[in-house]
Formats: sequence, C-alpha cells, structure tokens
Amino acid sequence: MKLWTGRFKKEIDPKTNDFNSSIAFDSRMYKQDIEGSKAHAAMLGQTGIIDLIESRKIVDELDSILSDIDSGKLEIDKSAEDIHTFVEGELTKRLGDSGKRLHTARSRNDQVALDIRLYLTTKCNELKSMIIGLIEVVTDKALLYKSTVMPGYTHLQRAQPITLGHHFLAYAQMLLRDIERLDDCKKRMNVSPLGSCALAGTTYPLDREAVASALGMNGVTHNSLDGVSDRDFCIELSCVLSIVMVHLSRFAEEIIMWSSFEFKFVELDDAFSTGSSIMPQKKNPDIAELVRGKSGRVFGDLMTLLTVMKGIPLAYNKDMQEDKEAVFDAVDTVTMCLTAFTPMIDTMKVNSENMRKAAAGGFINATDCADFLVSKGLPFRDAYKASGELVAKCLELGTTLEELPLCEYVTVCDLFDDGVYDAISLERCVSDRTVYGGPAPKCVEFQANRIKELLKNIGEDSK
Ligand code: ARG
Repeated sequence: MKLWTGRFKKEIDPKTNDFNSSIAFDSRMYKQDIEGSKAHAAMLGQTGIIDLIESRKIVDELDSILSDIDSGKLEIDKSAEDIHTFVEGELTKRLGDSGKRLHTARSRNDQVALDIRLYLTTKCNELKSMIIGLIEVVTDKALLYKSTVMPGYTHLQRAQPITLGHHFLAYAQMLLRDIERLDDCKKRMNVSPLGSCALAGTTYPLDREAVASALGMNGVTHNSLDGVSDRDFCIELSCVLSIVMVHLSRFAEEIIMWSSFEFKFVELDDAFSTGSSIMPQKKNPDIAELVRGKSGRVFGDLMTLLTVMKGIPLAYNKDMQEDKEAVFDAVDTVTMCLTAFTPMIDTMKVNSENMRKAAAGGFINATDCADFLVSKGLPFRDAYKASGELVAKCLELGTTLEELPLCEYVTVCDLFDDGVYDAISLERCVSDRTVYGGPAPKCVEFQANRIKELLKNIGEDSK
C-alpha cells in the first residue's frame, strides 16, 4: 500500500521502490512506531479531534498489531515503503475508516523523528548498563591487583612504577565519562517532535505535552521546522559511541600487547581467544583485535551522519532516511563489542610475576632516586642529574640501581646513604605515591570504593 495515492497515475518502478524503501532497516522500530501511534491516537480522542470511542478502538487494535508482530503471527511486509506505512496499512486493513483517521495532524516526518528518538533512548539505557557492567569488572580487578607492581609507560618506554589496579582504574574513569556523555545526549534526545507534522505544525488543537508524557519523554521540541529536521541526537550518540570505541580500542591494544610472548603480562581465556589454522602453538587475541578494528566502523558512522546532514536545507529531505543505518550500526557495533569485551577482561589471567620483573628493569625508580636526594636537601634539578649519572654508571656496569653498591652512589653524590635502597624499592615507590589519584595500593582501594558508590547511584538514576 502506498500512502501517497491520488496524485499518481502509475505505480513506482519496482527497482526504484527497493531503492526508496527503508523497511529493511526501519522495521526494528516497530514497537516505538506503534507506541507513538497509540499516544497520538489517544490524544486525538481526548482533545475531541477524533471520536473518543474510535480513538480507543485504534489504540486497542494497535496493541493487538504489536502483540501479533511480537508473537510472529503478523509478519512485517518487506515490500512496504517503511515501517510507518506498514503499521498504518495493517491498522486500516483491520479497522477500515477508523484506521484512516490515525494520521490526522501527523506526518511521517514527525513520526519518524519520534520513532528514532524513542528507539535510541532505549538503546542508550541498554548501552549504559553494559558499560556499567564493564566498569564493575574493571573495578573488581583493580581491587584484586591493587598491590601488583607493573611498569607505567610513556612513549611505550618504561617510565615509573605503578600498580595494575591503578591502570585498570584509568579505564574505569574513561568509561564513567562515557556514561555521563550518554546521559547528557539522552536528555536532548528524549523529547517529542510530534505536532511538528510535515514541517509547519497544524491547525488542530493538539495536546503535544500529553503525548510526550504518555511516552515517558522529557518534553516537546519548540520549533516545528527543527522538530522534523533535527538529527543532532543521532550525531551526538554516534560521537559518544565513537569515544566509547576509542576507549575500548586503546584497552584492546594493551591487551594485545600484554598477551604477546614479549610482554607475557596476561593470558586470555581460551573461550575468548582463537587459534591459527597452520601454526599449532598460536593463541591469538582476535576478540581484542576485532574491537580495535571495529572502532573504525563507528567513526565511519559518525562521519556518514555528519556528511548526510551538513548540506540539506530545512526541513525534511529524504537524505535523512540515511540516518538510521549509520546510527543503528554504531549502536549494534558497540553492543557487540561490549558483549565480547567484558567477559574477556573478566576471565583474563594476570601474570603478576612478569609484571614485577618488567618493573624491575629499565630504571623506573630513577625519579625516586632523585627524590631521595631532594629529601636530603639537594635541589631537584641537581638531584635529577646525579640520578641520571647513576643510570649511566649502571648501564656501563650492567647492573641496576637496586644492585649498585653504595660506594658507587657516593662517588656521584655524597648525600647518598643506606636509606637509598629502601627509597628506590619498587614497593616503596608505589606505596609512597599517595597523592590523590595516585597508584599507591591504598589510593587504588579508595578510588575503587568511590567508583562502586558512584555506580550504586548511577544504577538508582536509571531506574
Ligand atoms: N522512511 C522515511 C525516513 O526514514 C520516513 C519519512 C518519510 N517522509 C517523507 N516525506 N517521504 O526518513
């Protein structure tokens, strides 16, 4: 069934019909389309725009269409132009003239804008709980490994000692920001454009607020042109999800490195690794690599949306039908990535011994050696130079700062004494880094508990 009969003398060309149709990808919004139609029909009845009894009939029939689709009794006709056309057509098939009254004071332009907003709001909630799930896993791991010493890196060169717990919590912080961004984006998304109609609103006395509150939305859009042509919320969500993917991709990259033979910091569970078809010894971190690779798709979706939207005049243009595949792909990709990534991290084994060994090499306590001299009264710049000279000496002698005899220390600076060995021990180096946000085990414990408290409140919020 076409909604735009009357003016036309011919059917649309079949191949062009396929090109024009969006049902292949918008049928996933059938629930939201029906909920939106129910709220609109109920309001039409309450305001007396259509007969109240008739509006109730429409609402009831929409309910049975919904349950028939859910149960599989009613199949969505993939030759329909879009999900809106299909639902309205089915309603009219079942109710005759009453069904034809549903579209009073509405256009597919405000209808589709509503459906995407409702659909993506649900997705924001689902994504948020998945991200919370990953933060929980990461935070529990942080507590478990709060005292595990590992090298911290800059330029991928060993820099200063940290704890694995601290490293995990860095990701928890990123993911907490992702949640804030999702919530913020949802605020602007969850408003109703219904009543904007095709572009110019309507002469009917609609109760737009009633429709919005029946749908659990925060309010209504304030300009009918903007109401039908705004897709900022799709762009924003894809941007938020792109940032999520940046975080997952960086995490994935570290897991890939850490599970290499060269690092051997972690071992992935067999259930989250793959083998090679030719090299029997291989255990590959494919899941982490796919997550890293799929970030490109999501960035691509964001770019698609920006490009689709940038040049179209107000108000609705068919270009905007391209919004759905891009934003749905971003949502689906992040959902898939989180589904595999969270249990992969949860089941991953940590090789604390190898981390400790890596931290013991590479002079990552050279700053602490300098700080020891500062504690004896030397200005930091001079202490830095003395510590650098000691590193050079160790390199020459093939030893470490821990192993270098005190007599060598005092030749560089006579402020050194026996206390230096304690000051540069890796455990001291991390346990003394108690500055707020630092890697000391007690800081990690404090932050992990703070995050757990935060998550409790975030959980309450989304109820
Ligand atoms: N399938 C269309 C879309 O996704 C629905 C809106 C159609 N509106 C129109 N004026 N052709 O954008």
